[in-house]
Amino acid sequence: MFDDYLTWKPFFDIVPMKDSDCRPASELHGQRFARQWSEGEVLDLLGQDGVFGFCALQSNAFFSRPLGGFVLSREVAGEAEILTIAVGEKLARTGLGWRLMQAALREAAVRGAETMFLEVEENNAAAVGLYRRLGFSQVARRPAYYASADGTRSAALVMRRDLR
Ligand SMILES: CC(C)(COP(=O)(O)OP(=O)(O)OC[C@H]1O[C@@H](n2cnc3c(N)ncnc32)[C@H](O)[C@@H]1OP(=O)(O)O)[C@@H](O)C(=O)NCCC(=O)NCCS
Repeated sequence: MFDDYLTWKPFFDIVPMKDSDCRPASELHGQRFARQWSEGEVLDLLGQDGVFGFCALQSNAFFSRPLGGFVLSREVAGEAEILTIAVGEKLARTGLGWRLMQAALREAAVRGAETMFLEVEENNAAAVGLYRRLGFSQVARRPAYYASADGTRSAALVMRRDLR
């Protein structure tokens, strides 16, 4: 029993995102990105045609089901894109990003998408590493696309992957 306590770690289920997940998703977005998407913005996106999302919800929490991460994606006319993905900083490198992306890729294919696109900051080693490992490859580079608070600029990579 004491051993169980010492080795206790959170487990997560990947489930379709619902309206009630939008508030914690907005909070997590604010922790991981310079400009937070408000709960209303996330709700609005999730309600748009072709948009779907998945959440990582903790399955072994005591009183609630904390959100460990989420992904939002859109499928229109055979093309899908990742709108955003975020995983809690303390849960980095525990496989949640991978699982969320797999869920989004599968759902996009089920909806008829033949290709998935995404855009990522070139210096974002974690995201670029995740996408490359999932089989995405670079199709374009937009120099000086992102501006940071200190005025420095960085390039955006456009990446794609076949879903067929
Ligand atoms: C990008 C992000 C979603 C990755 O999520 P994660 O749950 O930590 O990633 P995973 O644990 O699933 O990692 C899967 C694979 O991605 C790659 N990867 C993940 N983090 C990495 C890092 N810091 N450096 C290099 N590769 C990394 C590895 O190949 C990893 O496999 P491995 O651990 O077996 O080597 C997460 O870092 C995040 O939320 N970042 C802030 C928000 C963000 O930048 N979103 C993307 C915007 S485009």
